[in-house]
Amino acid sequence: MDLKGKVAIITGGTRGIGRAIVLELIRDGANVLFTYLSSDESAATVLGLVTEFGEGVGQARAFKADVRDYNEAKRVVGEAINNFGTVDILVNNAGITRDKALMMMEPSEWQEVLDTNLTGYFNMAKSCIVMMMKKKSGNIVNISSVAGITGSARQVNYSSAKAGILGLTKSLAKEVGPYNIRVNAIAPGYIETDMTKDLKRRDELEKLIPSGRFGDAKEVAKTVAFLASDDAGYITGQVIKVDGGLAI
Ligand SMILES: NC(=O)c1ccc[n+]([C@@H]2O[C@H](COP(=O)([O-])OP(=O)(O)OC[C@H]3O[C@@H](n4cnc5c(N)ncnc54)[C@H](OP(=O)(O)O)[C@@H]3O)[C@@H](O)[C@H]2O)c1
Repeated sequence: MDLKGKVAIITGGTRGIGRAIVLELIRDGANVLFTYLSSDESAATVLGLVTEFGEGVGQARAFKADVRDYNEAKRVVGEAINNFGTVDILVNNAGITRDKALMMMEPSEWQEVLDTNLTGYFNMAKSCIVMMMKKKSGNIVNISSVAGITGSARQVNYSSAKAGILGLTKSLAKEVGPYNIRVNAIAPGYIETDMTKDLKRRDELEKLIPSGRFGDAKEVAKTVAFLASDDAGYITGQVIKVDGGLAI
C-alpha cells in the first residue's frame, strides 16, 4: 500500500496486532506515532526494528499514554502533530481481556474492559475528529473482534465493548462521511498474540476455523493498511472480518 507522507497514530503498538500494524504502515511510508501503557522495553524493541528497515520508509515515535484517560488521548494527538505536523490515520487497537463467567465477574472487571476497549476508542476518535473535519480528510480504523459480532461465552465485558465499537464505527462513518473522513472496523478472529497464547483447548478452537489455523498479526495489519489507503476510498462504515472464516 502507498501511505507515503501520511501520518498515523496507532494505540497499543508495542505488542501483537498493534506492533504488526506499526511495522506495516511504516514500511508503506507512513510516519507513525504509537502508544503503549506500560512496557518501555517493548516500545524500544519496536523502535529498534524500525531502524533496521533502512531508507525509504516512514519514521516512528513511541508515546506512553493510557487511552482510558481523555486528557492523555488529547496529549497523544498533540504529540503526533508536534512531531509530524498533522494526523491522517487513527488506528484504535489497544485492548485488554478480563475473561470470566458473568456470575464470577466483578464490576471492576466489566468496567476496566469497557474503559479500555470502548471509551479508549471514543477518547482517541474525539481527540482527532475536529482536526480531521477542518482539513476535510481523515481515516479511522477500529480494531473490534468477531466476539463483538457473534458473542462469546465468558467474555460479556469484552464482547459488549467490541460490539459497541461497531456502533461507534457505523455512527461516526455516517456523521463524518460528508467531511471526507472514512471510519471502518476490522473484526479479527483468533490471532497469534500474547492475548491468545494461554487459550485452552486450542486444537478444538482450530477445528472451528475453516482455514484450520490461528491468524498472523500481519494478516490483520495488511487489512488495516488497505483500509487506510486511498485504494479503499469508497469504503466506509464497514466491518471486515479477518478470521479464517470463523464467523461465517
Ligand atoms: N489476539 C486476538 O486473537 C484478537 C482477536 C480479536 C481482536 N483482537 C483485538 O486486537 C487488539 C490488539 O490485540 P493483541 O492481541 O495484539 O493484544 P496484546 O498483544 O495484548 O497487546 C495489547 C497492546 O495494547 C496496549 N494497551 C493495553 N491497555 C492500554 C491502555 N489502557 N492504553 C494504551 N495502551 C494499552 C498494550 O501496551 P503494554 O504492553 O504497554 O501494556 C499492548 O501494546 C485488541 O483490541 C484486541 O481486542 C485481538
